[in-house]
Amino acid sequence: MNILYIIAMQAEAQPFIEHYGVEEVNNFFYPLPCKLYRTTITNNNGKESVLNVVLNGQQHGSDLVGCEAASVATLAAIERIHPDIVINSGTCGAFLENGASIAKVYIGNGCMFHDRRVPGDDQWGTQALGNYPVWDKASQLAQELKMPMGKVTTGSSLDMQPCDLSIIKENKGELKDMEGAAVAFVCSLLNTPILFVKSVTDLCDSGAETFEEFSKNLALASQALKKANTRVIDYLTNID
Ligand code: ADE
Repeated sequence: MNILYIIAMQAEAQPFIEHYGVEEVNNFFYPLPCKLYRTTITNNNGKESVLNVVLNGQQHGSDLVGCEAASVATLAAIERIHPDIVINSGTCGAFLENGASIAKVYIGNGCMFHDRRVPGDDQWGTQALGNYPVWDKASQLAQELKMPMGKVTTGSSLDMQPCDLSIIKENKGELKDMEGAAVAFVCSLLNTPILFVKSVTDLCDSGAETFEEFSKNLALASQALKKANTRVIDYLTNID
């Protein structure tokens, strides 16, 4: 199996990168800033899989987050790597009222945008929300690995405005991020299955300041993400 991870921040990926000892493939995306790390994994039956980890790279001295960078990285990576599956993994905000807690890791069971406000229930409104499909075996994986599931909602901001919250609530969103639906949009165009693995850094309804909570919990949530992703990879590399 050819597995492609799309991860926005180096800090989110670092424990994972160190665990697998994936090596950077220099200049793979030149002149784009995206970075590729790659290794081969052999399962217990001797079957080989390729693990590709793509990061968005940097601009203005910081890791590129958000939909634009995620779309560029996903398009460039799928065109060059031709993966069997894309996994968008990273951190997210979530809601105490839905039972979320810091460093809890979820599998996505749907995804949409929560800050593209186009009126109407017609084709334009539908396009704005996105609602792209996720991999059809995502629920099976979550069930077998005993991982919770939640709907990913994506926007371009770390904070949450009241209009974001009403769209999230109306659509039963649970995991608020800045890339998921953009990655899924590209996957939908290129007919590539997508799986989400998301770890909670902050609780959107806790009253805490989001950036502070995010920064405080980033390392812990990234460790939890590594643990979850090693289980996901074990699962994927052992199915036919
Ligand atoms: N990534 C981590 N926490 C987030 C939040 N609250 N909103 C958007 N992206 C996030």
